[in-house]
Amino acid sequence: MNQVDYLRISLIDRCNFRCQYCMPEGAELNYILRQQLLTDEELLILIKEVFIPVGFTRFRLTGGEPLLRPSVVELVRAIASLPQTQDLAMTTNGFLLAGMAQDLYNGGLRRINISLDSLNPDTFNQIIGNRSRSRWRQVWEGIQTAHQVGFDPLKLNVVVIPGVNDSEVLDLAALTIDRQWHVRFIEFMPIGNDQLFSDQGWIASAQLRQQISDAFGLRESHVRGNGPADVFQIPGAIGTLGFISQMSECFCDRCNRMRLSADGWLRPCLLNETGQIDLKTSLRAGVEPAQLRKQVGQLLTLKPEINFKQRESGTTSSYTRTMSQIGG
Ligand code: GTP
Ligand code: 5AD
Ligand code: SF4
Repeated sequence: MNQVDYLRISLIDRCNFRCQYCMPEGAELNYILRQQLLTDEELLILIKEVFIPVGFTRFRLTGGEPLLRPSVVELVRAIASLPQTQDLAMTTNGFLLAGMAQDLYNGGLRRINISLDSLNPDTFNQIIGNRSRSRWRQVWEGIQTAHQVGFDPLKLNVVVIPGVNDSEVLDLAALTIDRQWHVRFIEFMPIGNDQLFSDQGWIASAQLRQQISDAFGLRESHVRGNGPADVFQIPGAIGTLGFISQMSECFCDRCNRMRLSADGWLRPCLLNETGQIDLKTSLRAGVEPAQLRKQVGQLLTLKPEINFKQRESGTTSSYTRTMSQIGG
């Protein structure tokens, strides 16, 4: 059985982008009210007195867009400085990164994954649902700054949508030839925008791998990470290519993670809410950390069965929350 020691912590459910694959156009999302968000103090109590004692040592900060949380740098500093923290990373859309990368690095963050679905500012805008052409440039600057500051590995996430950005796969892959960046192609999932999914469909990683291999050659490789990517490299390239194949492959049986939502729900699975625990309400009601450790410990023992349910129902089951609400 896999050890579950990787916690994805959503700091906020809001986002400054509205990526098509994440949020349906025009849809009103029910945002978590401010007073329902875990406070910094509550989050740190949960990490120190509940998650670390039951065995979590690897943490990833997600959103919505995690850089929208005003205290993000202080939280990074607090989590990175815990002696038990073996890995601290972040997934961001990169829009605010240019101005924050140095502070995040100084706070102890070393690993960052940034969404970059297109190299073309117009396509990028179409995907993120914004008309301002400077947005792509600002994300690109965020990536460059993160690289200069020293983030390593620096990964770029691409959700491949047929007819939208699939024609750019070779250009995106070629970024890794002379840059120490790690580009990951993610199979489009029917979470967030079912309509787009049924209109456009999705492309299997195997097909992309073949296309890239025909153009440049490809060999197996490795890069530091806790996620489900299969990693390859163009021969002679400095960076790597990852393929995240949650549609064509089931990696539930090697799942090593749980998710903490911004309002304090601990969820054992991306697609399955079975067994979820409302830690914030318990904490606010005065339940002792020892009791919470017991509950989380029980959920850890249930997790293989919950994963298995996900496999049986398949990843295409429709889901009412978007990735920005789940925490990516
Ligand atoms: P590394 O530690 O760098 O390997 O990161 P990661 O791949 O775990 O993190 P990231 O936030 O960059 O995740 C990339 C994408 O992988 C997500 O946006 C999802 O599309 C997918 N993904 C991550 N976790 C899960 C999971 O538990 N189940 C499924 N089905 N997909 C996941
Ligand atoms: N399919 C696949 N990945 C998605 N993401 C968001 N929505 C989807 C989806 N429908 C991922 C993107 C982004 C992260 C926050 O969530 O990769 O990087
Ligand atoms: Fe895009 Fe991520 Fe924001 Fe969703 S949460 S809209 S994927 S940037």
